This record gives sequence, structure tokens and C-alpha cells, in this order.
Amino acid sequence: MTSLKRAAITSVGHYVPPDVYDNHYFESFLETNDQWIRERTGIVERRFLKEGGASDLALPAAQLCLERRGITAADVECIVVATVTPDMIFPPTASILQGKLGAVNAWCFDLEAACSSFLYALNVGARMIESGAHRNVLVVGADKMSAIMNFEDRNTAVLFGDGAGAVLLEPSEDESLGLMDFYLKVDPSGGKNLYQPAGGSLLPPTAETVANKMHYIVQDGKTVFKAAVPGMQEAAEMIMERNHLTADNIRWLVPHQANLRIISATADRMGLPMEKVMVNIDKYGNTTSGTLPICLSEWWERGDLAKGDSLVLVTFGAGYTYGGAYVRWAY
Ligand code: UT7
Repeated sequence: MTSLKRAAITSVGHYVPPDVYDNHYFESFLETNDQWIRERTGIVERRFLKEGGASDLALPAAQLCLERRGITAADVECIVVATVTPDMIFPPTASILQGKLGAVNAWCFDLEAACSSFLYALNVGARMIESGAHRNVLVVGADKMSAIMNFEDRNTAVLFGDGAGAVLLEPSEDESLGLMDFYLKVDPSGGKNLYQPAGGSLLPPTAETVANKMHYIVQDGKTVFKAAVPGMQEAAEMIMERNHLTADNIRWLVPHQANLRIISATADRMGLPMEKVMVNIDKYGNTTSGTLPICLSEWWERGDLAKGDSLVLVTFGAGYTYGGAYVRWAY
């Protein structure tokens, strides 16, 4: 064990499958249209993985992340996979990924907190670094939402996509850079508004649960929307207040990508122009655990993230689970 150190993101990577489905794809079998989807959600297209599971999305994202940092899989000490669509209920997708990656020295586990899974996993990874327990932790957010989408339900089918992102956490070389603060919350009153009814221990799979399409996402969209806006705003405001951040000194808002209207309402409350908000929901839809790390990786790749930039991450999802984080970009 070493002395306490702040954790920092020292590398990023992401992967989205190659097959693109635009909004018109749904018009042939659902009563929906491109205009409704764009106007109500901001989504234009999304990717679906044809074959394989969440670990097959996680693998290339993790590989890219390690390659960019110049370390090998054998150097990784711990892997946390944030996901709501594990390859199987068990073993953990993280152990499947460990095997595929060849991260022979890493212990690993999955973390599930719906759309907040990645943010919560980032917090857990940060604590492992800060405590001195590990010199690095690979945090991956990966979801194959197409596996649990009801393609006959226009209320949910148009919203989601498949994708993964990964970040490497290491001790920060500079105390003023890295993962500065987290604000994580749960409001269990929202559990009934967004869930996957069957397949768990409460309602194990039967012919009836399958026939009744109970293994897919069920969402009362309007109710979740009404909770998501104040939830994301609360998280953003708390992070700003506690860290003396103003619209001027925030470089990027990095929001969960569930609905462009929720994102802009959050930015509005923070006094941020949309030029300071990471938005890629138009290309990928809601990839659940993938949204935040995919944004970070894409923006870094484009050269739009610089050392010292102040980032506010915010998320809201089933549970309700929600929260925010303050990150000062470290590389
Ligand atoms: O990431 C996890 C957290 N999840 C979220 O944050 C999602 C939050 N919710 C939302 O993003 C929005 O509520 C939705 C995008 C899901 C829905 O948008 P909305 O503006 O709240 O629409 P609505 O559910 O109130 O539906 C309005 C109308 C309804 O028709 P009627 O009852 O007014 O005749 C729906 O049946 O739009 C209809 N509708 C559609 N029409 C065309 C619902 N889905 C569709 C569709 N195409 N795909």
C-alpha cells in the first residue's frame, strides 16, 4: 500500500459496432417517423451489434484505451465493467473481458446501476487508486441495448443503441488534476418507471414471461423525463456549488445521452451554451453505460480535450440512480 493519491483518467478508448440504423429503419415496422424521433429525442441514428455480447463491445474499447496509454493487458490490476446487459447473468462480463483481453493479473467485477453504472464505477475505481490499493484500474462501460429492446414498442425501440467506452485510472501526478469530486444519489421511488421485469430472481424466465415480452425494457417515458430533468440539474448544481465552478470556468458538460431535451435543460440551468456540451446522441442514441466514456474518448480523439480542462459529468437512469462528477482533465 502506498500513500493517498488523487485518481486521474490517463487514457480513453471507445467502440461502436459498424452497422448503422437510421430513424427511417423503424418506419417500416413501427408507427413512427424520423421527424418525431429527431424532435422528441435528438436521435438520428444508432448502431446495433449483430453478433456477440457486451464483452465484444468492451474488448475493442479496452484494447484501444490500453494501446493509447502504451501499456499491455498484463499491466492492468483491476477491471470494472459497468453494464446492464452482461453477456450472461454470471459469470461477470468483466471476467469474460479479462480472458479475452489477456489481462492475466487483473481481478475484476461488474457494476450495475442502470444508466449511472459508468459514473458509479468511475467512483469505485477512483477510490481504489486513492487508497493506494491499485496503481491502475480499467473502467469500462459497455451495453448491448439491442438485446433487451422490444422492437415492437415504439415508446422504447427508437431510443437505444449499442456501444462501449473505456478509461484507465492511475494516480494523478498533479493534485490539482484528476477526479476531483462525486455526487451520487438514489431515489428508489422511480424503480417502477423504468425496468426489465423478468429474467431475474423475482420472475425467472418461463414460457409465459417470454410470451408476454417481459424480458425487454419497460419505460414510462414521460414520468422518467420529468424526474430526469431536475435530477440532472440537481447533480450539476451540487457539483458546481461544491467546487466553486461557474459557466465560464467549465470547459465541458458531459451528460448522459438519453434525450437532447434533458441535456439542453441541464445546460440551461448551468448557464452553459450548447457549444460547451458533449452531444453525440444523434449518432448513437442511448448506449446506457457507454454514453459518458464514448463522449470522453471521441472528444479526446478530436483534440477537443486539453490538460487542465474542467468537466462536469452528469447522469440519470433507472432506479432512479443519478449523480455528477467534477473532473479536471489530466493529460
Ligand atoms: O436513460 C435512462 C433514462 N431515460 C430517459 O431519460 C428517457 C426519458 N424520457 C424521454 O426521453 C421521453 O419521455 C421520450 C422520448 C421517451 C418520449 O417523449 P415524450 O415527449 O415524453 O413523449 P410521450 O411519451 O409523452 O408521447 C407523446 C406522444 C404519445 O402519443 P399521444 O398519446 O399523444 O397520442 C406517444 O404515443 O408520442 C407518441 N409516441 C411516438 N410517436 C411516434 C411515443 N413514441 C413514439 C414514436 N414515434 N417512437
